[in-house]
Amino acid sequence: MVKNSSKWIFTTSHKPNKNQIEKALQLANKYGGVYLERNKLQMNKENFYFVIDKKLSLSFQWEDGKLFFHPSVSKIRLNNYLKNGIDYLINAVSPQKSDIILDLTLGLGSDALLLSHFCKEVVGLEASFPIYAVVVENITNYDYKENWMKEASKKIEVINSDFKNFLNEQKEESYDVVYCDPMFENPQYKSSSINPLRKFARYDKITKVDLEKMVKIAKKKVVIKARSNDSVWDLYNFDKKNGSKKSGVFFGVIEK
Ligand SMILES: C[S@@+](CC[C@H](N)C(=O)[O-])C[C@H]1O[C@@H](n2cnc3c(N)ncnc32)[C@H](O)[C@@H]1O
Repeated sequence: MVKNSSKWIFTTSHKPNKNQIEKALQLANKYGGVYLERNKLQMNKENFYFVIDKKLSLSFQWEDGKLFFHPSVSKIRLNNYLKNGIDYLINAVSPQKSDIILDLTLGLGSDALLLSHFCKEVVGLEASFPIYAVVVENITNYDYKENWMKEASKKIEVINSDFKNFLNEQKEESYDVVYCDPMFENPQYKSSSINPLRKFARYDKITKVDLEKMVKIAKKKVVIKARSNDSVWDLYNFDKKNGSKKSGVFFGVIEK
């Protein structure tokens, strides 16, 4: 992982108030990082920082980029689904009220937010510490305009873990559905919601052994999101595969 010192740096936006400084100090302490005053820091190519802004939100910033939490297109996706019953992810997962869903690749959590609206709980793993921290510190505090998102966010447990290790520690059939959406092997730079993640994301590929472990810990099904030319499709016999030919993004389902 990219890291600019042995410890993560926490700071504030310029001209901070007392609450911002307190929050930055508190998070530095919580995550074993260091607090540095903003006016003593220089933004340059080698440096990146966690920043507490005036609204006390946490973002991760570098010279020419910023990673921050936002619910992305979840609102449009839910509205479309409610109108016409079509969302490739929801159709593939078919979440039920009592389901506990394991999202192995949480990212900024927009899929998790959508799924958790329909189920009991989503357990979301993220291996990249900056992405994890930005999501876990904002997902329940974000100023959502939609009440369903606020409620859905409370049902997501965010864990900083590598799914390759996590899968080894789970009992058979411990989640109703296991969902995995790794970074595409053949990236789609048009995907603006993923672009801020790229610099600090993990780029692990799913192996056959990973798929077998996912199948083992799922009660009902495993759902994989990948591009049509990604290697995962050759590793297993998927029962269903639906998606958009135009975007080349597909959701494969392994039923149990
Ligand atoms: C394409 S994004 C997921 C987007 C997500 N579905 C959403 O709705 O925002 C893939 C994410 O998986 C994470 N990731 C990749 N390999 C991982 C691993 N082995 N364990 C946990 N997370 C991983 C990446 O860091 C990245 O944030």
